[in-house]
Amino acid sequence: MRIAVAGSGYVGLVTGVCLAELGYQVICIDVNADKIKMLQSGRSPIYEPGLEPLLQRNVISERLHFTTNPEYAYTNADIIFIAVGTPELKDGATNLKYVEAVSKTIAEFIKDDVIVCTKSTVPVGTNDKIKEIINNLKPQELHVEVVSNPEFLREGSALIDFFHGDRIVIGSNNHQAATLIEQIYLPLNIPIMKTDIKSAEMIKYASNAFLATKISFINEIATLCERVGANIEEVANGIGKDHRIGPYFLQAGIGYGGSCFPKDTKALVQLAGNVQHPFELLKAVIEVNKLQQSIPVVKAKQLLGSLKGKSVAVLGLAFKPNTDDIREAASLVIIQELLAEGAEIAAYDPVAVPNAARVLEKGVTFTKNIKSALYGADIAIIATEWEEIKSLPLDVYSTYMNTPIIVDGRNCYSLEDVRDHPITYVSVGRPAII
Ligand code: NAD
Ligand code: UGA
Repeated sequence: MRIAVAGSGYVGLVTGVCLAELGYQVICIDVNADKIKMLQSGRSPIYEPGLEPLLQRNVISERLHFTTNPEYAYTNADIIFIAVGTPELKDGATNLKYVEAVSKTIAEFIKDDVIVCTKSTVPVGTNDKIKEIINNLKPQELHVEVVSNPEFLREGSALIDFFHGDRIVIGSNNHQAATLIEQIYLPLNIPIMKTDIKSAEMIKYASNAFLATKISFINEIATLCERVGANIEEVANGIGKDHRIGPYFLQAGIGYGGSCFPKDTKALVQLAGNVQHPFELLKAVIEVNKLQQSIPVVKAKQLLGSLKGKSVAVLGLAFKPNTDDIREAASLVIIQELLAEGAEIAAYDPVAVPNAARVLEKGVTFTKNIKSALYGADIAIIATEWEEIKSLPLDVYSTYMNTPIIVDGRNCYSLEDVRDHPITYVSVGRPAII
């Protein structure tokens, strides 16, 4: 079985590396020549725990190849996975230009029957469009089937999710094509659900929208906890014990970020609007999340009055721990708002600084360690719950900061521990320690 993977970003690269690890011959193709050069030399352009050693092992064993050449990638492929980006347009709709472009290229270069399997998150109906594009441009004698195979991996635990995911969804209107894709995944022993294409496309959006809803819901409850003197951790624990609710995705914080929840929730609202069904619940989820990202700055102002000229340490830049991805990270909103208030910012992240430095305007000093960020600070804002930040002894704050005030957007410390230190501590949905 010869597999090509189009797009070597978070999803394409993880898919390519893991399929090679399962023993398949895989060619990953990307239009970004720098990325491909790096990958050919066995280096990963993204930070993803465990990925680089697996990448190197499979490059050396010659199961995994990287190219920018569509002829090399597509001509002899039996299966082509599409894993290119589907970013949002200004109005929240999905920008399908990369999916359309790759579909055209596939049609141009295939020389045999092939199954095109879409991993990119695409609005319902897109796989039919992909099929139409390919059928219009491919050599007439060839047969192409298009299968929807949405991806559910999380950044930071992508390998675990690939090898031990909860389910694999295969959407196809062709039994033979679905069975072939199923066979690829059989060694994983993960439950496989076969369904029609449109339902598979919808499963992806509904999953992300539901998870985002859980987060905005728990964040709303957290605000109520703050107002009435309850503790969100106790509340989340209490409701999560109900099997119908479950304990996951009930971590209150400063909202969801990343490349998917923000764009996929907006895309689903857009899709709903297109079929005259205003999705009010999801609109509220998005609005709650937007407000949630600003909460640390609101709290900092309540504690310090004006932030003008104040020195603020921002701990954590990535949208979640164990990734260098800063797309839609709460830290970016926080930093922009702090800059607008006239604050001086020292920011630290174990791996995301190069990505953050590319998008943030001047006025932010990036430090090489936590202590340098805290040194002389009037307040510290925790934006990402990296283990390194969670395990930082609390006396470091009192030793290094000008005034030890912490706004913890990720509830990294236990209130019992904080009470033993001369620290002002405001977290999310828990009593403030002042
Ligand atoms: P990404 O931006 O990291 O990677 C996309 C890659 O596609 C880039 O390297 C880009 O250069 C390449 N590309 C663009 N046009 C191409 C073409 N014509 N041929 C070959 N390569 C091309 O994106 P990502 O985060 O991997 O997401 C990809 C898709 O998977 C999106 O639809 C996303 O919603 C979905 N998804 C992402 C995640 C995640 O955790 N990042 C999880 C599940 C699903
Ligand atoms: C999410 C989904 O979990 C994946 O299943 C999906 O494949 C992926 O989106 C996608 O479609 O791209 P990811 O964005 O990588 O994965 O990371 P998550 O762990 O879901 O976290 C997303 C955001 O929600 C982070 O900012 C995180 O801090 C926040 N979050 C998560 C909370 O605020 N509370 C929680 O309880 C959980």
